[in-house]
Amino acid sequence: MMRWTRPLPRLLLDGAMLICLVLAFAYWWLGNAAHEAIGTVFLIAVLRHVANNLFWWKGVRRGRMTVQRACDAVLGALLALAIVALLLTSLGVSRTLAQWLPMPRIFLLQEIHWFAAYWAIALAALHLGVNWNRITALVCNLSGLALPRWSGPLLWVVALAIAVQGTFSGSILGFWPRLRFSYALSMWDFNASVLPFFLHWAAALLTLAVAAHVLLSIATRNLQVLPAKNSR
Ligand code: HEM
Repeated sequence: MMRWTRPLPRLLLDGAMLICLVLAFAYWWLGNAAHEAIGTVFLIAVLRHVANNLFWWKGVRRGRMTVQRACDAVLGALLALAIVALLLTSLGVSRTLAQWLPMPRIFLLQEIHWFAAYWAIALAALHLGVNWNRITALVCNLSGLALPRWSGPLLWVVALAIAVQGTFSGSILGFWPRLRFSYALSMWDFNASVLPFFLHWAAALLTLAVAAHVLLSIATRNLQVLPAKNSR
C-alpha cells in the first residue's frame, strides 16, 4: 500500500493539487464538465493533504511559537476558509456533477465561488512561499542532493526576475483586481494561445510565493535579534 506520508507521494500530491488549482482557472479552455471534475479531484486531494499534515495541527499549541508557525497557522486558517467556501458554492453553482441537487440559482453563490477561487490560489501561493525551506528540504532529502553554495545567489536573481514578470502577469490575468473583489474585464482568449496563460499564472503565483518567503525571512531575522538585544 502507498505510504502517503513519505516524501515522494507528499510532493507528488502537493504538485498535483497546484496543477488542479491552476487548471480550474482555465474554465473557458476546458469547459464546464472538466472544470467540475478537476475541482472535485482538487477538493479530495486537499483532504489527503490535511491528513498528511495533521501532526502539524496537533502540535500547533505545543512548543515555541515562531514567526513561521504563526504565519503557517494564519494562512492555513484563511486557506481552509477559502476552500470551504469553494466547496459549498460548488454544490450551488454546479451544472454537471451536482446538478441533481435541488439548489436555487443564486448569483451571489457564483460571485463567492469566483472570489473564493482567486483567494484560494493566492493563499496557496503564499503558503508555498512560507513553507519553501520545508519543500526544498524534502526535495534534497529525496534526491540525496545538497544545493551548492553558489546556487543561493543565482536562485535569488531568478526569483527576483520572476517576481517582476509576475507582477505584470497578474495584471494581464486580472488576478490583482479580483483579489480586491472587483471585476476585471480581462478574459483570456484560449483560441489565440494556451501556453502563455499557464506561464502567466506560474509567474504571478511565484511572485506571491517569493514575496511571502522574503517577508518571512526578514521577520524571522529581526524578531530573533530582539530578545538577544534585551537580554544581558
Ligand atoms: C479547485 C477548485 C475550484 C476552483 C479554483 C474553481 C474556480 C472557478 C472559477 C475561477 C470560475 C470562473 C470561471 C470564469 O468565468 O472565468 C468558476 C466557475 C464555475 N465553477 Fe468552479 N472552481 C473549483 C471547483 C468547482 C467545482 C468542484 C464545481 C462543481 C462541482 C465547480 C463549478 C463551477 C461552475 C458551474 C462554474 C461556472 C459558474 C458560472 O459562471 O455560471 N467549480 N470556478
